Amino acid sequence: MPEDRSKIYDQYHLKDIGDIQLDIKKTRPGSRYAYDLYDEYHNIILEAHQPISESLIKHLIDNKTDYLYYDPTQKNKKDLPEGKSENIAGLDLTVDIVSRAMQNQVKENIKDLLDSIRNIYEFSTQDTLSTKQIEKSKYMVNELLDDISKNKNGIFTPIDIVKNLDDYDYNHSTNVSILAAYLSSSLEYKKADRVIMGLSGLFHDIGKSGIPREILSKTERLSDEECDVIKKHPVLGFKLVEKNRDFGDLEKKTILLHHENPDGRGYPYGFDHSKYETSVPKEVRLIAICDIFVALTTQRPGREKFTSSGALKTLLNMVYAPYKTIYKFLPEDFRDFARSVGYTLNRGDYFIKTGDLIRLNNGEVAVIEEMNKLSPLKPKVTILTDQEKNKVKKPFFVDLQLDFTRYISNILERNIKE
Ligand SMILES: [Fe+2]
Ligand SMILES: [Fe+2]
Repeated sequence: MPEDRSKIYDQYHLKDIGDIQLDIKKTRPGSRYAYDLYDEYHNIILEAHQPISESLIKHLIDNKTDYLYYDPTQKNKKDLPEGKSENIAGLDLTVDIVSRAMQNQVKENIKDLLDSIRNIYEFSTQDTLSTKQIEKSKYMVNELLDDISKNKNGIFTPIDIVKNLDDYDYNHSTNVSILAAYLSSSLEYKKADRVIMGLSGLFHDIGKSGIPREILSKTERLSDEECDVIKKHPVLGFKLVEKNRDFGDLEKKTILLHHENPDGRGYPYGFDHSKYETSVPKEVRLIAICDIFVALTTQRPGREKFTSSGALKTLLNMVYAPYKTIYKFLPEDFRDFARSVGYTLNRGDYFIKTGDLIRLNNGEVAVIEEMNKLSPLKPKVTILTDQEKNKVKKPFFVDLQLDFTRYISNILERNIKE
């Protein structure tokens, strides 16, 4: 731990919180916790990682049990793969969400699909995807969604899968599709909309089939000209599906707009902040987050992959704040992503923790005192510096859940005197 951090620890040492309460009335059916949950007499009510059912919530409320308790020091990791809690990322994560067989099935389908699209590019410019191909993909994403809902313990199933780097694009599309479908399930979208999210994730990079293989597979740094060629893939993809009535509006917009950023540095249009908010649908913005998460956590030649925790922190650092000139996401979009799947992607752990130094949207630096179980991005914090990074005379406590003007916009890895 860097010296400055340890001083902060000494100065603002954390309270001994002991058993923590879980407010039953605020618990949503289907939520899972990494801890065994007890009642006030210390009877175990629900084992770690088991979903809490609607009937259990009703039963507890009917019996005037307002709270369950858990002991944060007694984390139940029995279902986590041994020795794998930190290094599993990328492909493994999404395999965790669905079965391996289903993942392979999806991958095969994409392989067929992208191969036929490539043929279209190479041999004809008139044709586009056939109804049959799209029907097959819709069927597949439906199966995938059924698999996600059936696979109760799936997210903690140990997985050991060998990645095939040559299959990068297939794996990437598969993973973005699965993650987008899973995210829309956690956000409780209607079934039809979940299918659309899965399909949009599946097709988002369809335009890459129109980019020369030599450029796509190049591992050295790309020249400016080559970057410009890659940047054509949203428009190429859009042209491919534009007139196709089997594609919905959202799938088309995802293909065209998934590389727009609110800071105006995206492509193909380079929308500014307000144009981004009004022109890029929420679903497309969420798929763009899935896209970057999957890319960061996947191994590529010459670049180490991020752990899921590292990737989530990196994404958080790309959130808009007034003092930033480069950012990729709106805070509310990242909040939805992290609240819905952050805990799952990080294998039942928060990716930010008590003791972490953070910067808030207004520039203040704070230390996290206590996590908020139900809103992981709104912990209780102590503010250490003002907006100009000068230490405040008297550090003060803020519960971000009760403060609607402040939100986390950066994780500071080192110390506050940067
Ligand atoms: Fe893309
Ligand atoms: Fe992508």
